[in-house]
Amino acid sequence: MTTVGLIGSGRIGGTVARLAVAAGHQVLLSNSRGPDTLKGLAAELGPLARATTGREAAEGGELVVVTIPLRAFPSVPARPLAGKVVIDTCNYYPQRDGQIPELDSGALTSSELIQRHLPESAVVKAFNNIYYRHLASLARPSGAADRSYLPIAGDDAAAKVAVTDFLDSIGYGAIDAGPLAEGWRQQPGTPVYGAPYGSFQDKKGSPASAGAIRRALAAAER
Ligand SMILES: NC(=O)c1ccc[n+]([C@@H]2O[C@H](COP(=O)([O-])OP(=O)(O)OC[C@H]3O[C@@H](n4cnc5c(N)ncnc54)[C@H](OP(=O)(O)O)[C@@H]3O)[C@@H](O)[C@H]2O)c1
Repeated sequence: MTTVGLIGSGRIGGTVARLAVAAGHQVLLSNSRGPDTLKGLAAELGPLARATTGREAAEGGELVVVTIPLRAFPSVPARPLAGKVVIDTCNYYPQRDGQIPELDSGALTSSELIQRHLPESAVVKAFNNIYYRHLASLARPSGAADRSYLPIAGDDAAAKVAVTDFLDSIGYGAIDAGPLAEGWRQQPGTPVYGAPYGSFQDKKGSPASAGAIRRALAAAER
C-alpha cells in the first residue's frame, strides 16, 4: 500500500483517488479551497481517504499527483516534494492557462516546466492523455485481455518503475514514452491524446492496447 498525495482533487485527481482507494492505497486529498470542501469526497471514498491541505498532501504522500490547471503550478510546494516521485497530469490550454512563452515556443514541454519548478523531485508525466470518465471505466486487473495502456514520460528510470507499479495496481499498463523532453508526444492534439480510448461522447470508452498506444506515440508530429 502506498500513500498517494493529491494536489488537486477534481475530475482527474478525484478519479485517480477513487482508483487508488479501490486498489487499497491511502489517499490525501487537497485542493485550492481547503479540506472542508473535500469532506464529501473523502467520506464517499471511505477510511482510506482523508481531506487535507496541499502542503500536508505533499508532505505525507509517498507518491504525489499534481493534477491542477497548469497555470497554478507555481503554487505547488517544492520543498516537501524533494526526493519524491511526482506524477504530472497537467495539460497546457492557453485559453484556460494564459500564454506561457516557453511552452508556446516549444523550448520546454509542460512537464519540463513542472520539473523545473520541482528540481529535487522526479516528475513523471502520466494520465494527461485520457478523459477522466474513460480513466474511471477502463481500469482492468493485470492480465485482463482488454487492459488499457497509458504513456508515461520521465527522466528518472526508478521513478518510472514506481509509476508503472502504481498504474499496474490501479488497473493500467504503462508504455515508456521517453524522457520529459519527449512529453510533447502525448500533449493535447497528438494521436495518443484522448482518441485511443474512444470518443468523449461515449462515457465508457474503449480499451487501448499497448500496440495502439505505441503506434499513436510514434505517429506524433511536432
Ligand atoms: N478532465 C480530464 O479528463 C483531464 C484529463 C487529463 C488531464 N487533465 C488535466 O489534468 C489537470 C486537472 O484537470 P481536471 O479536469 O481534474 O481539473 P478540475 O476538475 O478543474 O480540478 C482541478 C483541481 O485542481 C485544484 N486546484 C486548482 N488550483 C489549485 C492550486 N493552486 N493548488 C491546489 N489545487 C488547486 C482544484 O481545486 P479547487 O476546486 O478548490 O480550486 C481542483 O480540485 C488539468 O491540467 C487538465 O488539463 C484533465
